[in-house]
Amino acid sequence: MKQFPKNFLWGASTSAFQVEGGYGEGGRGLANSDMRFIPEGQADFKIASDHFHHFKEDVALMKELGLKVYRFSFLWSRIMSDGHKVNEEGLHFYDQLIDELINQGIEPLPTLYHFEMPYHLIEEFGGWRDRRCVDAYVAYAKVCFERFGKKVKNWITINEQMCATTPDDMNGNLEKDDDKRHQVLYQMSYHMTLAEKITIGLFHKMIADGHIGHVVAMQSVYPATSDPLDVQAAMNAQDELMWSFLDLSIQGSYSHHFTSYLKKHGWYPEMLEEDQKYLREHPDFIGVNYYASLTVRAKRKDDDTSHMPPFFVSDQFYVVRNTKLKPTEWMHFGIDPEGLYMGMRAIYDRYHLPMIITENGMAYSDILEDGHIHDVYRIDYLEKHLAQVARLVDEGYPVLGYCPWSFVDLVSSHEGFGKRYGLVYVNRTNTDPKDCKRIKKDSFYWYQKVIKNNMLEG
Ligand code: BG6
Repeated sequence: MKQFPKNFLWGASTSAFQVEGGYGEGGRGLANSDMRFIPEGQADFKIASDHFHHFKEDVALMKELGLKVYRFSFLWSRIMSDGHKVNEEGLHFYDQLIDELINQGIEPLPTLYHFEMPYHLIEEFGGWRDRRCVDAYVAYAKVCFERFGKKVKNWITINEQMCATTPDDMNGNLEKDDDKRHQVLYQMSYHMTLAEKITIGLFHKMIADGHIGHVVAMQSVYPATSDPLDVQAAMNAQDELMWSFLDLSIQGSYSHHFTSYLKKHGWYPEMLEEDQKYLREHPDFIGVNYYASLTVRAKRKDDDTSHMPPFFVSDQFYVVRNTKLKPTEWMHFGIDPEGLYMGMRAIYDRYHLPMIITENGMAYSDILEDGHIHDVYRIDYLEKHLAQVARLVDEGYPVLGYCPWSFVDLVSSHEGFGKRYGLVYVNRTNTDPKDCKRIKKDSFYWYQKVIKNNMLEG
C-alpha cells in the first residue's frame, strides 16, 4: 500500500482545442487548429468532445470522481478572436466553467497556451516566428489575469515547447529547407520563452498570492547499446529534446554544449540585449507530461527518418525500438513507468523546483461492450506510473499532484478520435459526432477509489 500526502492534488487534464468544440460559436475566431490539414477519415477539432455544450455535466463527473484539480486550457481564439480584440462572450464562457469548478470544490489549473492560437496571428506575421507574437501573448495573458486572477491562483504558461515549435501546419513553420526550418524552430522557441518570462514577471505583480508553472514534454532517453557513440547520441537527444527547452525556460540560457551546437549550425536565435532583464524570471513549478521513454543510437548517413515525427528527426541521434519494452497499439515505444521516475528525478536535481504531473496516459481504441468500457490496460498503465510517483514522494521529491491525460476522450493532437485516452468515454467516432454522450470507463471507478483512499493498493 502506498499512501499519498494529505494535500496531494489528484487531478485530470484536457486541452481546449482537443476537447471544447463550439466552432464558430460565442464570437470565437478562427484558430490554427481549424486550418490544420486533416487526413481523410480522421476527426477535425470543430466539435471535438463538445465540452463547450457539456461542460456542466463534465464538471459534475469530475466532482463524482473526486478531483481536487482540473488542468485545462483557454482557447486563445475564443478570448481574442483575431488575437487582439477581446471577446466578452469568450471570457464569459470561462467564467462559467471556472465558477462551476469552484462551486464543486475543484481547483482550476488553466494553461494559457496549449498548441492553439488565433489563426489571424499566423496570417498577420507568421505566429511565433515573429517577435510581435510575444506582445500578443503577453497582452492575452494580462486579459486572463485581470479577469480570472481573483479566483484562479495556479496557472501554466505554455504547454510543451518541444511539440509547440515542431515543424507543422499548426504553428506556421512549414519551411522546406531543413536549415531554415531549424532556424525558425529555435527562434519560435526563444520568442515563446521570452513571452513566458515577461508574463511570469507580470503574473507575480498582478497575482502575488499565486503560482505559475511551465510544462515540459519530459524525455527519458536511453542509449540502444553501451557503445560510447550510442551513449553520446542519448546525451545529445536528451539535450536537444528536453534540456534545451527547459534550460532556456527555467534558467534563461542554453547549456554550453547546446549553445555551441546551435551556433555551429547557424541556428542560434536572435536575442536582444534588452531581453536580459526578463530572462531572469523563472516559473514557480514545473509541469511534467510523460507518456513513454525514448531509445536512440548514433546516427548513420543512410538512416530512413521518413516515418518519424519531425521532432525526432535530428543529425545527433536516431530513434529505435527498445527491445526491453513491449509496444502496444498506439504506444509504439512501449510502456515504461521507470522512465517517469528517472526523468522527474533528473529534472528536480537540475532545477530544484516543485513538480506536478500534468499529463500521463494510455491511448487505446476502447470498445464499448454492453454500455461498458473494461479498460484494464489503462488501469494497469496508470497504476504502474502512480507507483513510481509514490516512490518519488517517498524519497522526498516535491511532487504536488497527478493529472492523468485525459479526463474525457478527446481528439488526439494528430491522430483523430479513435486514439482514446479518457477516463470517461465520449460516444462519437472519427466521422460521426453522434450525441457525444459520456460513459464512465472502469478506469474512472478505479481512479475514484485511489482518490477516495488517497492510496495506491498493492
Ligand atoms: C501531449 C500533448 O504531447 O501529448 C497533448 O500535450 C496530446 O495535447 C498528448 O494530446 C498525447 O498525444 P497524441 O498525439 O496522442 O494526442
